Amino acid sequence: MPKSKIILTGDRPTGRLHVGHYVGSLKRRVELQNSGEFDKIFIMIADAQALTDNADNPEKVRQNIIEVALDYLACGIDPEKSNILIQSQIPELTELTFYYMNLVTVSRLQRNPTVKSEIQMRNFEASIPVGFFCYPISQAADITAFKATTVPVGEDQMPMLEQTKEIVHKFNSVYGETLVDPAILLPDNEACLRLPGTDGKAKMSKTLGNCIYLSDSAEDVKKKVMSMFTDPNHLRVEDPGNVDGNPVFIYLDAFSKPEQFARYLPEYQNLDELKDHYKRGGLGDVKVKKFLNKVLEEELAPIRERRKELEKDIPAIYDILKKGTAAAKEVAEQTLSEVKAAMKINYFEDQALISEQAERFAAD
Ligand code: TRP
Repeated sequence: MPKSKIILTGDRPTGRLHVGHYVGSLKRRVELQNSGEFDKIFIMIADAQALTDNADNPEKVRQNIIEVALDYLACGIDPEKSNILIQSQIPELTELTFYYMNLVTVSRLQRNPTVKSEIQMRNFEASIPVGFFCYPISQAADITAFKATTVPVGEDQMPMLEQTKEIVHKFNSVYGETLVDPAILLPDNEACLRLPGTDGKAKMSKTLGNCIYLSDSAEDVKKKVMSMFTDPNHLRVEDPGNVDGNPVFIYLDAFSKPEQFARYLPEYQNLDELKDHYKRGGLGDVKVKKFLNKVLEEELAPIRERRKELEKDIPAIYDILKKGTAAAKEVAEQTLSEVKAAMKINYFEDQALISEQAERFAAD
C-alpha cells in the first residue's frame, strides 16, 4: 500500500489573517486541498503555541480563534475535505512534547534561528519563558502526531521543520521506526515567500500597523494601497523609478494576472511592460496603485463576502472546529499509543512485560 499523503499546517491565533498569510500559505492550502492528492488534511489553530509568548493575554488568543477560523473558511478551506482543529484541545500533543523534550538539547534550541530572532523581537533575552523556548519541540509534536508527510509553510518555518526532522530521526533511531519524516512544501512563487508591509518594512505585522487584512473593507484596502510606500526617490512622474524592493510592485508580482491588464490597463500587455515604463520614468505611483487596488479587490471581494455570510452563524463555526478537533484527536491518540509502545511505557497493554515479571518473581 502506498504511504498516505497527509498535510499538517497551522497558524497562531494572535490576530486576523492578512494578505501576507494569503499569498504565503492560505491560497496554496486551498489549492492543495482541492487537488485531491492528499488523503488527509489537518489545519491547526495553534492556540497553545500562541500562549507561549502571550501567557498574560489568553483573552487575545481566545478571541482570535474565531477570526482565524473565519479567515480559513472564507478563503476556501472546506471542512468536508480538511479538519480544522484547536491545538490545546488535543492533550496528546502536550504529552508527545514532553517525551520529545528528552531528545533535544538546550544548545540545539538556542541555535534555532527562528527562536533566536523571536527572542530578540520580543525582548525575551533576559528572561525567556521555558514554554516559549520549547515551542519548536511542541511543533514537532504537532507535525508527527498527525503523521504528516507534507508541511506547507513559509520559509520562516524552515528551522522548525529541520528541528522536527532531527527529532524524528533521533526518536526512530533510539526507539525503532515509529514517526513519519515530514517534508516542507515552500510556496512556489518567489514574491510569495514573503510579502513586505505596506510601509515597505520586511514583514507585515500587526504592531507595525502595515497589514492589509483579509477582512478589511474595500474602503480600507483602497486607503492602505493608496498610501503605500513606493520608491522614495520617485518624486515626480517623469523620474525613473525602482521596482526592486518596491512593495507596490512586489504585491503586483504576487497578485496580478496577465488578463487583468486588458481589463484595467490596456496600454500594457503585462507586468513586465508596466515595470519597464516605471523604470524609464513617466509612470506615476497613483496609476500603479489604482491598478493594484483593482487587482487586490478581485481577489479579496469574494473572500470578504463569504466571511460576512459565515459571520452570521458563529455557533456553526464552533461546530466545525469541534468536529475537526475530534477527528484530529483520534489520529493523535493512535500516534501517542504507538510512541508509548515504542518507548515501552505502555505498561498495562504490555502483556509480555507482565508475564515475564510474573515468571521472574515466581522463580525467585
Ligand atoms: N509556528 C507556526 C506559526 O508561527 C504555527 C504552527 C504551529 C505550525 N504548529 C505548526 C505550522 C505545525 C506548521 C506545522 O504560524
